[in-house]
Order: sequence, then C-alpha cells, then structure tokens
Amino acid sequence: VHDQNLEKECVLVQTPVVGSKLHPLLGSMLHILEERYSVIYLVDDVDVAALRTPLSTIRALIARREVPVDLIESLPNLGIIANHAVGTNNIDLDYCRRRAIRVTNTPDVGTDDVADLAILLMLAVRRKLCKAHEFVRAGFWEKTPFPLASKGSGLRLGILGLGRIGMAIAKRAENFKYTISYHGRTQKPGVSYTFYSNLSELAANSDILVVACSLTDDTKHLVCEDVLEALGPEGTLINIARGQIINECALVKALVEKRLGGAGLDVFEDEPYVHKELLNMDNVILTPHVGSSTWETRKVMAKLVQDNIDAFFAGKPLLTPVV
Ligand code: GLV
Ligand code: GLV
Repeated sequence: VHDQNLEKECVLVQTPVVGSKLHPLLGSMLHILEERYSVIYLVDDVDVAALRTPLSTIRALIARREVPVDLIESLPNLGIIANHAVGTNNIDLDYCRRRAIRVTNTPDVGTDDVADLAILLMLAVRRKLCKAHEFVRAGFWEKTPFPLASKGSGLRLGILGLGRIGMAIAKRAENFKYTISYHGRTQKPGVSYTFYSNLSELAANSDILVVACSLTDDTKHLVCEDVLEALGPEGTLINIARGQIINECALVKALVEKRLGGAGLDVFEDEPYVHKELLNMDNVILTPHVGSSTWETRKVMAKLVQDNIDAFFAGKPLLTPVV
C-alpha cells in the first residue's frame, strides 16, 4: 500500500499549555496543515524522545510556548521555528542563529487587539469597572451608593516601548485627550510625543504607565521598585507585554503597601501562576494573557504561521522572519 504520509514533510506542533490536548491552532488551519504535512503534536516537552516519528525527520516546529534548547538540540534537521506569537522571548534566537535555524513570528496582526486591551485595562482600572459590575450584580445598588472612581481621560500617559503596539496605544490615547510620553532604547524620529531617556523620569511624569516593549535581556525587570515608586500612590500600571519586564515581587509589595495606585495586568512573571495577593485587590484588574485572543486575529495569526511554514518548504522567502 502506498503511504502518502511517507512523502510528507514532518511538522512538530506545540500545544499552548504543557499537557493540554486542546487544538494548538484554530481547527480550520490545523486541517489544512494536516493535509499538507505529517503533523505531530508536542503535548509535553519532556517526552520528545517518545514521539512516533524519528526525530531526524522533523524539519519544522510551530511554537506556542517556551521552546527549551534541549528540545531544539534533539532535532538535528530542524530548519524553522514558526512562532505563533509576536514576542519571541520564548526562543533562544542566538542558538538558532548559530544552527542556521530560521525563526518567524506574527507581527502586526495582533497589534489592534493588544492596543484595545491596553486602553480597556487603563479605563477599567481608573473607573473601577469590574468592581462596579460586581456591585450591581450583588444587589448593593439599592442599599448604598458606589464609591467615586478616578478620571480615565485627559491624563499623562507614559508608554514603555513605542513599537507597533506602543504606537497603536498612543494613537487611541490621543482620542482620550492624553498627554503622551514614552521611553525606549532610542528616540523615534518624526514622533512628537515627549521622549524620556530615563524610565523613572517617565514614570514620575505619568499618571498611567503602559508596558508595551518586547522582553529581552535588557528589558527584564526594567520596571523595578524605583520606577513603581516614581509612578506613585495615584499612578496606574498597565502591562500587556510580558510579565518578566516588571519585577512582580516589587509590584505586589508596592500595591500591598499602597505606594502604587492600581494595576491592570494581562501578563505575569510565572503565568499561569498569579501572586495570591493580587487576587483580592479592588484596584487591580487581571486578565489571562488574552491580548490577541480574538477569533478574527487568531485566524490571521494561524494563517501567517502556516504561510511561513509553506514558504520554508517551498524554498521561498519567509513572510515574517526574525532570524
Ligand atoms: C502574544 O503574547 C504574542 O506575543 O503574540
Ligand atoms: C513588539 O514586538 C511590537 O510589535 O510592538
């Protein structure tokens, strides 16, 4: 019997959470992928040796979470890692460069969604949206007035990282009459927002600080105790980027001691673990890393991952190369 699978290139696909049996990509895209390739699911990183396929046949990996270096080391003929995310902090890019393994990400497609979430969190924290919602649901409205909130617009907004996402947040914020400033490695040419070369100085001059930069060795724990102190007891911190950019212990301590006004957090240092102290704070809103989690965007993201894989096997230029 002629087995077509023998002729198909082999693609390894990580599930989004270790041990999860959930579909790692939107179903329709997975179907197309399975038609073209021999698809193997990596549910657990540790049992890679137990895969039913010889590891030397695997030439592509679709990454949905941390990619351990020993996983890449065990795949001698790996040629591409297509990351199902814009942030590539889950992949050792230097190692990939040395091995000439190509890496792609999914830039642009999630920018609007992530910027929307940043604005949502900013306004929700300042206006106590979640608490107000719980208040009505619990039937308190007939018994007592709801406490006053803080103004959500016309404030000083500081953006850490004026990349695609940071800029999309700034554009939205202009319509909320914010005064916009930013910090990054370099001042952006042609941008009228005030640039601060020092992050603490930006924080000291902001009512809201939004973290929108990539996680790199340089940005890890960039938002430290000094920055939180500068933002102060009336300040609001928003993070839609990566948890490790903030020193979370320092953040929790500042919130507990009321040295920081409030926070809206979509990402965490050790997600899905969330510090217990954060769970019961009225001035903190938590979301489970859902910046780009809309049907519309996830469809486009999955298609971009698929197109990069197709281009790689066809020997064509990759659509969104990182390495
Ligand atoms: C999501 O966090 C992404 O990097 O796309
Ligand atoms: C960062 O990766 C961005 O898209 O702004």
